[in-house]
Amino acid sequence: MRLLILGGTAFLGRATARAALERGHQVTCLARGTSGQVADGADLVVGDRADTRGYADLVGDFDAVVDVARQPRHVRTALDALTMRVDRWLFVSTINVYADVSPSAVDADESAPLLPAWDGEEWAPEQYGAGKVTCESLVAQAFPSSHLIARAGLLGGPEDVSDRTGYWPLRFAHPSRADGRVLVPHSPDAQVQLIDVRDLARWLVVSAESGTTGVFNANGPSVPLHAAIAAARGVAAHTDELVPVPPEWLAAHGVSPWMGERSLPLWVPWPDLAGMMTVDTTAAQRAGLTVRPLPETFIDALAWELQAGPGRARKAGLSPADEADLITQRLSEPA
Ligand SMILES: NC(=O)c1ccc[n+]([C@@H]2O[C@H](COP(=O)([O-])OP(=O)(O)OC[C@H]3O[C@@H](n4cnc5c(N)ncnc54)[C@H](OP(=O)(O)O)[C@@H]3O)[C@@H](O)[C@H]2O)c1
Repeated sequence: MRLLILGGTAFLGRATARAALERGHQVTCLARGTSGQVADGADLVVGDRADTRGYADLVGDFDAVVDVARQPRHVRTALDALTMRVDRWLFVSTINVYADVSPSAVDADESAPLLPAWDGEEWAPEQYGAGKVTCESLVAQAFPSSHLIARAGLLGGPEDVSDRTGYWPLRFAHPSRADGRVLVPHSPDAQVQLIDVRDLARWLVVSAESGTTGVFNANGPSVPLHAAIAAARGVAAHTDELVPVPPEWLAAHGVSPWMGERSLPLWVPWPDLAGMMTVDTTAAQRAGLTVRPLPETFIDALAWELQAGPGRARKAGLSPADEADLITQRLSEPA
């Protein structure tokens, strides 16, 4: 297969290129080259998707495209340039396209209502999900019987540029305090649902090979948050004390859920966002999506974190000094 990845210099695009190369395909990536390197063995064609001429250096036809765009105008420029030269289009979307992520959306499948579509020229990150709704429909219109839309959940594993999945095994492997205590959210009912980037990548490639079409929630199983944290702890062989703190305590101390600076990654406010962590993945499983056990994701995420340097600045989580200080504050409170 001749596979074109629109992207390929970041987390999922690079993993998809690796999966395709492992399966003997020829891989071309189109990107500006500012996010990182492409996988060894893939060709990089430098182009800017903001520009209609950004695809001018691509040569020949392709059996399939894997597109990771976030912006409708990037999808539009690509479709204008490439529709006649491609057999199938696989678009990586997100579960953020769904209008309802409240508890009433638990176990919702792909037929659940979507956000109103957003189609602005200037990129606005807060329009991420609504922009993906537009991207999906542009692809579906251009490839009515040969598109695949993968609505991905949280991506995890090695090279996670959001720094979320590596936080937990790394913190357990390198606690911030000499007594080894680790601060964890106490949210007993909370669930988390993530997919190892390599499992999604492989499924995209296999689907491109087989010509699988349709719209799929592409995610792993929904598991209790405490079980996910326990899996990360087990991988790091951490046996010191946990310091569980309720969501209200974290909010009062300026610690955010989910992602970003001063956060505790993977934890979402519960049950308010329960729909986000419990999407139905039956259709994708029927279409061949298989996922590895969570500990494997954490083992490899930890290995990558250790290689990247445990002391590096992170985009998600608590810094060791901050976490140590929060634990001291918690322990000094009356029981
Ligand atoms: N991370 C998650 O947890 C999560 C969850 C749900 C869904 N998703 C979806 O999964 C996908 C993740 O893809 P990813 O990790 O490979 O990429 P990404 O982090 O979204 O990066 C975007 C890719 O597109 C390229 N790109 C951006 N602007 C460009 C431009 N103007 N012209 C040409 N190329 C451009 C970037 O390369 P250059 O900067 O080098 O140009 C990079 O390779 C996205 O579709 C995301 O929406 C992610």
